[in-house]
Amino acid sequence: MHYLIGVDVGTSGTKTVLFDEAGVPVASATEEYPMYQPQNGWAEQDPAHWWDATVSSLRTVVAKSGVSAKQIAGIGLSGQMHGLVMLDAAREVLRNAIIWCDGRTTAQCEEITRRVGAKRLMEITANPALPGFTASKILWVREHEPEIYAKCRHILLPKDYIRYKLTGVFATEVSDASGMNLMDVPGRCWSDEILSALEIDPSLLADLYESYQVTGGVTDRVATLTGLASGTPVVGGAGDNAAASVGTGVVEAGRAFTTIGTSGVIFAHSDTATIDPAGRVHTFCAAVPDAWTVMSCTLSAGGSLQWFRNNFATPEVLTAQGMGVDPYELMTAQADKVPIGANRLLFLPFLMGERSPLLDANTRGVFFGLSGVHTRRDMLRAVMEGVVYSQRDCLDVLRSMGVTFTEMLATGGGGKSPLWRQMLADNYNCPVVTEQAGEGPALGVAILAGVGVGLYESVPAACKKLLRFGAAQQPIAENVDAYTPYYKLYQEVYGALKGQFSTLATL
Ligand code: XUL
Repeated sequence: MHYLIGVDVGTSGTKTVLFDEAGVPVASATEEYPMYQPQNGWAEQDPAHWWDATVSSLRTVVAKSGVSAKQIAGIGLSGQMHGLVMLDAAREVLRNAIIWCDGRTTAQCEEITRRVGAKRLMEITANPALPGFTASKILWVREHEPEIYAKCRHILLPKDYIRYKLTGVFATEVSDASGMNLMDVPGRCWSDEILSALEIDPSLLADLYESYQVTGGVTDRVATLTGLASGTPVVGGAGDNAAASVGTGVVEAGRAFTTIGTSGVIFAHSDTATIDPAGRVHTFCAAVPDAWTVMSCTLSAGGSLQWFRNNFATPEVLTAQGMGVDPYELMTAQADKVPIGANRLLFLPFLMGERSPLLDANTRGVFFGLSGVHTRRDMLRAVMEGVVYSQRDCLDVLRSMGVTFTEMLATGGGGKSPLWRQMLADNYNCPVVTEQAGEGPALGVAILAGVGVGLYESVPAACKKLLRFGAAQQPIAENVDAYTPYYKLYQEVYGALKGQFSTLATL
């Protein structure tokens, strides 16, 4: 028997899962770490935390599984996209990583658009310049921290920093690198034209691979630290969303998934590089060769519930500790007791500004309609519903671009909640299904590793062989009707407040 490992460097933590070659999880470990918000709208993490979490979770799964290190055929890396990691000539981290949900770079996005030209930028990178993406973060450091930029010799995405630490190799792959605003996305290579327009030295960037290709092997030092065998192959892997697409079987046209993780993502496979001219949703290379994806990304989906947990759900957190269960289970059980519409309370989940479909770094969260009758329970329900309305808003854009699917896969922490899944089914008006292992990104990159080392013939063939799906949750007609007026009002409230959010940002 062979085994494969998937490491997912997420925002709330790093999850490492060891699978057997039939795709069954054998051992898993998660290590959490903080996100720093040095200013309203900024978001950073310490790459040392990702590395410590990777070492410790790898060590745990190897030991817990009882599998001999030699039987581990390969490792795949998945990670939060877009984050900027800068290393100096001694290969040391120069500053905290500026991550995907950071909104400080509106001015640098304007500069990128000016330097490249809006039309050309779209043609080459398949996306507009967005504050979440990496290029504007690079320009921000160059402008605001020139002494750090001068020392920078390597620019890496989060999972590719982990790859460097595991293998000593500077490499990335097309699905994640698509989110840097530096690639020719239809051509699947770095864009000399963009790099020269932005005056970014190409030698700063890592070598670019397809997601299934082997990029290097585990070093002797890491083997000692983790219990892995020296030389264990590490494949390209994928950005967390492309990784989840493999782990949920969204690797052919007509299939789509929704993730409620820290971010909220709707992701559809496409055989061509389909571009939204308004840039409200992203076009990236898929983790399978010759394919692309269109996806929306909201910045605070599960992140909104996490914020609520951290600030207002102490009773559930304490009870959950006593019972040995997940506090989110108790929180969603509370929300389930409240009727649709949360007793006329709406929540706009824009705690980090919003990317899809609003492209508005200044917007912020709102409870709308608070009354003396409301309790924490109503607020909880409103948070969950608001997150679903934000996904529905994105889905409207994807549908208007001709994206079709017969059912929606649900994944991420939020995808584990039957209540959230039913809200998705009722708002999307389509069946919602889960993959049974429930390991989205980690399974996805383990599959990519299996393809890279020759255990499986291709990604689609491996998905057909390994993935198992649960029963669909169907939309309930009466709920579909009940949610619609709240969704419309949700859209109107944002429209009405747009100008005020801009004013607030200037105060
Ligand atoms: C995608 C995005 C997020 C991160 C974090 O564009 O920014 O989904 O990958 O998970």
